[in-house]
Amino acid sequence: MSWQVDVLTLFPEMFPGFLGMSLAGRALKEQSWTLKTHALRNYGLGRHLAVDDTPFGGGAGMVIRPDVLDTALNDTLSDDERPVLYLSPRGRLLQQSDVVRFASGKGIYLICGRYEGVDERFLENRQIEEVSIGDYVLSGGEPAALVLMDSCIRLLPGVMGSDQSADEESFSNGLLEYPHYTKPAIWNDHAVPDVLLSGHHAAIAKWRQDQAEIITRQRRPDLWHAYQNRLHIENDHSHLDSDATCQGKA
Ligand code: ADE
Repeated sequence: MSWQVDVLTLFPEMFPGFLGMSLAGRALKEQSWTLKTHALRNYGLGRHLAVDDTPFGGGAGMVIRPDVLDTALNDTLSDDERPVLYLSPRGRLLQQSDVVRFASGKGIYLICGRYEGVDERFLENRQIEEVSIGDYVLSGGEPAALVLMDSCIRLLPGVMGSDQSADEESFSNGLLEYPHYTKPAIWNDHAVPDVLLSGHHAAIAKWRQDQAEIITRQRRPDLWHAYQNRLHIENDHSHLDSDATCQGKA
């Protein structure tokens, strides 16, 4: 059974977009993941197949109707417990841990809004997780949906060449990744750090860990503090564990 994405959108032609190329594109052809788009317009009302209307209370833009979304979602959902996600800058910021959770399930349902968004009652009535891909505003949910899909698809078994590269990359251990170097060993008078040419695996691992910590501390104090807090908690627990063991032995 392949990992399935169902997308509700006013612009189905935006999919699979760049996910039809490169590793994700090959994985799509090989059915490591499957994609179904559902055009919201097919659920539009009246002669003009209207999907949206002006906001109550006034203001700019159009809001997608809750009845249209509800019918479209009912028609799309199958009984498979995949999470239903709505892409929105008001959502909870997407984290690598969410991506791992989504990728390890059966797939996801994605709802893409346009214009000013969707009627709030639809979001409240259904169990929908609102997800943001960053603190900036896109013209709609579709590019955000593609980003979210990309982050999941690359974690599916067999999609990326080496599983180790997923383990060591940025965020998987709470740190940004260490720097990488390749040939030539000297380029424009800049040499690759000696330790990487030493063949000394333990020294290389230590250097990489140190670099990851330095870069994280400099660039992302938020991640650095969270990382340190986690280390402290783990250390406290290991003290407690060894205390408990000592007491047990006494
Ligand atoms: N739609 C518009 N902007 C968005 C964002 N930053 N994240 C997710 N969906 C969006």
